[in-house]
Amino acid sequence: MVNRNFTPFPILTTERLTLRQLSIDDTQNIFALRSDIKINKYLDREPSKAIDDAIKFIKNVNDNIKNNSSIYWVISLTRTKKFVGIICLFDFSNEKNSCEIGYELMTKFQGQGIMKEAAQVVIDYVFQTLKFKKILAFTHYENQNSTYLLLKFNFVKSLERDKENPNVNIFTLAQ
Ligand SMILES: CC(C)(COP(=O)(O)OP(=O)(O)OC[C@H]1O[C@@H](n2cnc3c(N)ncnc32)[C@H](O)[C@@H]1OP(=O)(O)O)[C@@H](O)C(=O)NCCC(=O)NCCS
Repeated sequence: MVNRNFTPFPILTTERLTLRQLSIDDTQNIFALRSDIKINKYLDREPSKAIDDAIKFIKNVNDNIKNNSSIYWVISLTRTKKFVGIICLFDFSNEKNSCEIGYELMTKFQGQGIMKEAAQVVIDYVFQTLKFKKILAFTHYENQNSTYLLLKFNFVKSLERDKENPNVNIFTLAQ
């Protein structure tokens, strides 16, 4: 049976990580992530300027989860409970049987295989629980770290570029 209902929130775990729901207690970390120039370099958004942006963002994320229209996990280290990044699924399409994936890691926690571990459990969740047949990822053509990650999971680069932003490559992973 297809389960696209996020209440109760689906906490996911891996060897090192716990993927949990975002809460207002994460405001400082969300602000840090969304205002960091390096993390935002290839993302199609304005870096956050004020803490209020983070508060609004958290509310919006949790409203979308309540409506089952997208899902967003905080990636935390199970042992220390440290916030290390986020991973999310959005743009659900029943017509195309697909969803899109997004991910960000605090710079200090990059290069440790953390996103590989988080992405694996989320990809499994898409195919086994949400039962979408396809995952899309949009990434800037110069975003090497993101491109490497996608290729490690055998995402395939589409010949077509994003219509709204020709600098963005479209990758697809089909089940
Ligand atoms: C995209 C992003 C999440 C990738 O993060 P990352 O740290 O490179 O990815 P991983 O966590 O999977 O780490 C992989 C690296 O850790 C290394 N590593 C170290 N310890 C490891 C371990 N125990 N297991 C696996 N890999 C390990 C690997 O060698 C690998 O590097 P390599 O592929 O060059 O050999 C990160 O660059 C980021 O947050 N960027 C900013 C936001 C962004 O652009 N998001 C994408 C939007 S489309």
